[in-house]
Amino acid sequence: MKLLVLGGTKNLGRHVVEAALRDGHQVTLFNRGLTAPELFPEVERIVGERADPAALARGEWDGVIDMSGFLVRDVRRSAEILRDRVGHYTFMSSIAVYADRRTPGQTEDAELLPWPSNAPEDEFTMDLYGPSKVRCEQLLTDLYGERTAAIRSGFVVGPYNPDFGNWGQALATGGTLECAARPGQPIQWLDARDLADFLLLVTAKRLAGPFTAVSETWTMRDLLEAWRSVVPGELAVDWEPEVDRFHLSHDGSNDGTFQLANGRALAAGLQVRPAAVSALDCVRWIRAGHTPPPPPH
Ligand SMILES: NC(=O)c1ccc[n+]([C@@H]2O[C@H](COP(=O)([O-])OP(=O)(O)OC[C@H]3O[C@@H](n4cnc5c(N)ncnc54)[C@H](OP(=O)(O)O)[C@@H]3O)[C@@H](O)[C@H]2O)c1
Repeated sequence: MKLLVLGGTKNLGRHVVEAALRDGHQVTLFNRGLTAPELFPEVERIVGERADPAALARGEWDGVIDMSGFLVRDVRRSAEILRDRVGHYTFMSSIAVYADRRTPGQTEDAELLPWPSNAPEDEFTMDLYGPSKVRCEQLLTDLYGERTAAIRSGFVVGPYNPDFGNWGQALATGGTLECAARPGQPIQWLDARDLADFLLLVTAKRLAGPFTAVSETWTMRDLLEAWRSVVPGELAVDWEPEVDRFHLSHDGSNDGTFQLANGRALAAGLQVRPAAVSALDCVRWIRAGHTPPPPPH
């Protein structure tokens, strides 16, 4: 397919472009040319700013994958300008859209966060991350009907993505695995490469969303053991490290966020590689001289 990727050169987006090229799709990138401009020299580029997507006024694509949609204003502008020239609009959303953070087993139909009255559509703050994603999903549905999908993910792991705590680094170079969480804390995650494949699948098949694209629920203890198993010896684990790299609430008030139902995404074709495969690939990638980027927020 002819595929337009908004973004496509950072942590997740680069995997989308790699997978698209692997599968023989014809890719166009739209970004400012600031982030990793050396990537994908063979790919057509449209240089532009999301706030003013006039550069997107020409061209036709079978699908667009929007990896860089944070501001409601910007997503509205690109969605409007592209509406009659793209087949399907797939939006990278987040599990931060869900209003209830306690209840396990919520599906895509669960209540979503409201838009705070008088909130700005053109300024990004962390408080507005979830509500903005909800509003973007809704405006896309209004404009595209069944021709849009929202993919909601949370912790994303794998090469070129932030370390899972310090686990990849510790396993690659030795040290203590830090885990600022209860051992029984529920957790869901996804490998960036599985996420990329799913974004492409949904776009190519023009599936209507939304989809919660996450792994099954693990406990932190079991996930940590899966990661720890990929190198010989038993690295020490610190359950109360000085630095909290996970920022998970310790009182269980956020447990529902990592016990979401993923059945709709699995039925549509989401593949989830084994945790140990992601872990080993992270270790190899770090040992090859790479440094994981800082966590997104
Ligand atoms: N764990 C996670 O990381 C996680 C979890 C859930 C959802 N998400 C979602 O995944 C997406 C982020 O993935 P990513 O960072 O890997 O995306 P990406 O598409 O790889 O990177 C961001 C891209 O957007 C471009 N960009 C940034 N600001 C721009 C602007 N003002 N105008 C035009 N282009 C712009 C950047 O290139 P230039 O700088 O060259 O413009 C870059 O190519 C977000 O939608 C986020 O909400 C992430």
